[in-house]
Amino acid sequence: METITITTSFKVFEDVNELPEKIQALMKQAVEARNNAYAPYSNFQVGAAVLLKGGTIVQGNNQENASYPSGLCAERTAIYAAGANHPGKRIVAIVITAASKNHPVTAPAAPCGACRQALIEYEKKQQKSIPLYFMGESGNIIMANAVADLQPLSFDSALL
Ligand code: THU
Repeated sequence: METITITTSFKVFEDVNELPEKIQALMKQAVEARNNAYAPYSNFQVGAAVLLKGGTIVQGNNQENASYPSGLCAERTAIYAAGANHPGKRIVAIVITAASKNHPVTAPAAPCGACRQALIEYEKKQQKSIPLYFMGESGNIIMANAVADLQPLSFDSALL
């Protein structure tokens, strides 16, 4: 028997103004995407903005459905839109923000497990880490240096 020990550090920013300028701009796009989310069932609106090499930004937001499981999270909407419309373009950074129409979201909203698995596919594909930032509608912003830091033991295509 052996033990695998995984240590991860995340950066915590207290204010959007502390973020690098290009990430602040990306956050603005994520907020815009968040405001356009289609979330009439949960009232929980999530926006994601994906920055591609060359400066293109792809937005995504959660898209809910009357048949609840048919809906999709913001992160996957965004990453699939980037993959579909900009194939082969390197992903430079991802920013996520969440808000609720029912209560203030003041804690960072980390991506769900399914989205982590979806995002990590693209990180592996491009063989370069994707820094990821996430926040609520106010409060701290957490930064992971790579998607793999959020999900170190992901399902791997090498097993297929
Ligand atoms: N949601 C996201 O868009 N991203 C996540 O990482 C977690 C949850 C969405 C799905 C659903 O529309 C709403 O938030 C409530 O779960």
